[in-house]
Amino acid sequence: MTGSILMLALSALVLELGIDKASRGTSNASRSMSPTFHLLTGAWPEHEAALRHVRHAVFVVEQAVPVDLEWDEYDAVSLHALAIDVDGMPIGSARLLPDGHIGRVAVLAPWRRRGVGSALLRTMIDAARARGDRNVVLNAQVWAMPFYAHHGFAAEGDAFDEAGIAHRTMRLAL
Ligand SMILES: CC(C)(COP(=O)(O)OP(=O)(O)OC[C@H]1O[C@@H](n2cnc3c(N)ncnc32)[C@H](O)[C@@H]1OP(=O)(O)O)[C@@H](O)C(=O)NCCC(=O)NCCS
Repeated sequence: MTGSILMLALSALVLELGIDKASRGTSNASRSMSPTFHLLTGAWPEHEAALRHVRHAVFVVEQAVPVDLEWDEYDAVSLHALAIDVDGMPIGSARLLPDGHIGRVAVLAPWRRRGVGSALLRTMIDAARARGDRNVVLNAQVWAMPFYAHHGFAAEGDAFDEAGIAHRTMRLAL
């Protein structure tokens, strides 16, 4: 009897893991198999306040990027991805420009190394592929290159300075 209950509980756990991995975000760090975050996509006006919250915390406050450089005319013409936690609070951002550049990939510090950045990046890559782009390009902060390499991006050209931070161009063929 106890053995059957154990088997049933185990099957439910395996089933939930399969569903979560396919459709929603789960944290590798946490032992819980419940979804811990969700992704939304849309135009700037739909998610502006939430995207501003994340990018202000990560780029303006944490990385000291000047406000004038952080906010530009490309937000209005980009497709945006927003990650939210189970309470609907914003935790991550990314954008895809019409010319295939991915940028502003950011995850709030307490949420890093839990797959949120990867989910945001994959969403932007999938969107570019779906609209027929042949490749995606980004300017990676040099320290973050392993994150993008993990997703198949390859570096090209020399390092250059952007907002006082060393960057390199990276590209992924779709
Ligand atoms: C870069 C950033 C978006 C990554 O987001 P994240 O949610 O932590 O990334 P993930 O958990 O999906 O990481 C996936 C993989 O990328 C690699 N990676 C991620 N962060 C890394 C780091 N700091 N150093 C080395 N490898 C890293 C690892 O291989 C990781 O897999 P693992 O955790 O199983 O080892 C996040 O660190 C961030 O917001 N940084 C501040 C903003 C920024 O600099 N953005 C990049 C601008 S170019």
